[in-house]
Amino acid sequence: MPTTRTPAEAEPRTFSQALRERSWPLHDVANGAEFINALMEGRISRAGYAALVTQHLFVYEALESVAAGMRDDPIAGPFVTDELTRVPSLRRDLAFLLGSADAVDDLEPLPATRRYADRIRETAQWPGGFIAHHYTRYLGDLSGGLAVGTIVSRTYGFQLGGEGVLFYHFAQIPKPRPFKDAYRARLDAARWNPDERERVIDEVVLAYGLNTEIFLALGAVHPATPAAG
Ligand code: HEM
Repeated sequence: MPTTRTPAEAEPRTFSQALRERSWPLHDVANGAEFINALMEGRISRAGYAALVTQHLFVYEALESVAAGMRDDPIAGPFVTDELTRVPSLRRDLAFLLGSADAVDDLEPLPATRRYADRIRETAQWPGGFIAHHYTRYLGDLSGGLAVGTIVSRTYGFQLGGEGVLFYHFAQIPKPRPFKDAYRARLDAARWNPDERERVIDEVVLAYGLNTEIFLALGAVHPATPAAG
């Protein structure tokens, strides 16, 4: 007698597929924020863009300081690679945008950014949580982030991959697709039980929410300029 199978049962999902499927609605909320839409339409001032880069600096300082302590962790260690490191690029972008390297040391995060950075730092005790934040930022940077970099360069007249937009340029990852495929394979190979997998997915959902909060806060301080025409 034929068995009745749901489509999900017919095609077992990998962890990385389940993660993407469960978190994708939140991805759309994050990149649907007015600030991001306006950025993609060239309707955010240069000061507004510098404010976004500033928030990135605090987020990646948190992420990369936790990453440094995870290098030898059996689960998180394989995800940590120097090819992804963003803080030096962010500092150079900001020095360029603000006109001096000293100005970078005086920057303060928005409260929403502080909350995100604090949450990331808390995962120093939880490799799965760290990977959730690592995935949310770096896989995004290697996906839509590349398009954002191209548009931002055009908007402000920066050289593609040059100062002001170094953050979007992964000099050591010329081919993002195989890198992302290998990353997903590492996610699938991580020895997590079903409960831990659920916790990691929940943390990714939370990470998207924290990103959205930052975009909302940035939109309140730097509203979009009117559309041309
Ligand atoms: C203008 C803004 C954005 C655009 C246009 C965009 C676009 C995309 C696209 C097209 C993909 C699929 C790439 C692929 O399948 O290889 C993707 C993946 C991804 N994006 Fe975004 N994105 C944006 C913003 C964001 C933001 C703000 C975040 C998180 C903070 C993010 C996180 C991710 C992640 C984690 C993935 C990988 C999903 C997976 O395959 O597991 N994106 N993005």
